[in-house]
Amino acid sequence: MRTLLADHPLVTHKLTLLRDAQSDTATFRALADELVTLLAYEATREVRVTEVSVTTPVGTATGAMLAQPKPLIVPVLRAGIGMLGGMTRLLPMASVGFVGMVRDEESLVASTYANRLPADLTGREVFVLDPMLATGGTLVTVISMLADRGAASVTAICLLAAPEGLGRVEQAFPGDGSPAVRVVTGAIDERLNDKGYIIPGLGDAGDRLFGEI
Ligand code: URA
Repeated sequence: MRTLLADHPLVTHKLTLLRDAQSDTATFRALADELVTLLAYEATREVRVTEVSVTTPVGTATGAMLAQPKPLIVPVLRAGIGMLGGMTRLLPMASVGFVGMVRDEESLVASTYANRLPADLTGREVFVLDPMLATGGTLVTVISMLADRGAASVTAICLLAAPEGLGRVEQAFPGDGSPAVRVVTGAIDERLNDKGYIIPGLGDAGDRLFGEI
């Protein structure tokens, strides 16, 4: 597993506003959307391309287009939905699958309640959207589901990550095996608290995106 800390000044600026407890739902949603697009730019740096030639008004240029099979984007319900628009803005040709995970607030163990993934992901590049990499349980489960289906690479885009979560993903997917696993995040925070929240973090990402339920 490789980790890319995308600590570009624009990312840090928007993340700082996102963390602010005073930012309301509309502001939070807009900031999350913009942040994902910035992180997606870094996360797609290694996306596969095919060389093509293109006829310009005055000649022929060699260029590159995204290769087939097209990438798959997987937002993790519920909070990952708040990241989908920012990702598809950069990859409008990608298909989208869904995994729904819910965390037991006592045990902090995540269980799957929805799965709309293609049965065969052989050779596919997959981008998982989950704003908070906390204990890492959700991400390890989702990556395992994608690995079982043959994904070639899995890149998780997380607004924030905790050292504990990064450690758990690294333990589950060490080295450069298959699928190649990467985590792209805007910040690595201090720690988790005893409720599994990232400290200092930004609170409950789903509640802040969509309101408390
Ligand atoms: N999920 C969240 O929404 N926030 C955290 O801090 C951890 C997990």
